[in-house]
Amino acid sequence: MEQALDRCLPPVECEPRLLHEAMRYATLGGGKRLRAALVYATGETFGARTEQLDVPACALELIHAYSLIHDDLPAMDNDDLRRGKPSCHRAFDEATALLAGDALQTRAFEVLATDMDPAIGAARQLQMIARLAEASGSLGMAGGQAIDLRSVGSTLGLGELEDMHARKTGALFRAAVALGALCVPHLSGSVLAALDRYASCIGLAFQITDDILDVEASTAALGKPQGSDQRRRKPTYSAVLGVDRARDLARAQHEAALASLAALGDNKALLTEIAAYIQDRTR
Ligand code: IPE
Ligand code: IPE
Ligand code: MG
Ligand code: MG
Ligand code: MG
Repeated sequence: MEQALDRCLPPVECEPRLLHEAMRYATLGGGKRLRAALVYATGETFGARTEQLDVPACALELIHAYSLIHDDLPAMDNDDLRRGKPSCHRAFDEATALLAGDALQTRAFEVLATDMDPAIGAARQLQMIARLAEASGSLGMAGGQAIDLRSVGSTLGLGELEDMHARKTGALFRAAVALGALCVPHLSGSVLAALDRYASCIGLAFQITDDILDVEASTAALGKPQGSDQRRRKPTYSAVLGVDRARDLARAQHEAALASLAALGDNKALLTEIAAYIQDRTR
């Protein structure tokens, strides 16, 4: 993954150097690579070759890296630490961080449009671009971030909280699974629907756990500032329900994810492992 991402990004010697340095700083050398892992796991489960999955996996991680740069900016969460090092706007400056995010986002669509294995075919390639754009935009991740910011200092009902998390985090998880599946021809509608349910459930479980870890983990373990949500008065699962009930809900989403995988028969080991990792993670 690291090598594939390195190949996706312009070298630092290429002008404008500072921008390329910031893009590489925020993308390489850190992160759990979970969205990439979902692309690989879904594709490989149904027989896609690893090399075919590199480009969609990179596209997901590029969008994710962009979202984290912008999420940390003073106008958003105002966090100074990310992946165990100064966040992009602290290591560089705000304008460079904004532009690095912009350029990572457009690079994601560029690699999908230009570097894809031709065997995938133009029609499915176009579907991938549309799917990732939808997941990243105002009805997906960016929209979820808007709801998150609008909700600072207020309490949300459980339905509103779930909707916000489904957009800001779930949408990219669903896109990761969908792009992995689009590398495979002829998956049935029922398998695709089961995969999408699985991705929604683990996406929600992932963000609920993120909310819990903000309360319970340490800055050192997280590589980002513990307690940031409380300081910013964010309506999170732990704030609205308390940590114990939030943990119950994460567990219920994990079980629902596994139930969705039943439709895959014996072919579900990789996706089961990823769900377990999301359930047990401590960072
Ligand atoms: C952080 O995502 C942002 C959320 C959606 C909670 P990750 O926890 O996957 O971040 P990295 O990629 O591992 O740094
Ligand atoms: C961010 O959620 C989700 C994104 C779309 C980036 P958070 O604000 O909770 O993510 P962290 O905790 O800063 O990683
Ligand atoms: Mg945020
Ligand atoms: Mg944040
Ligand atoms: Mg968080």
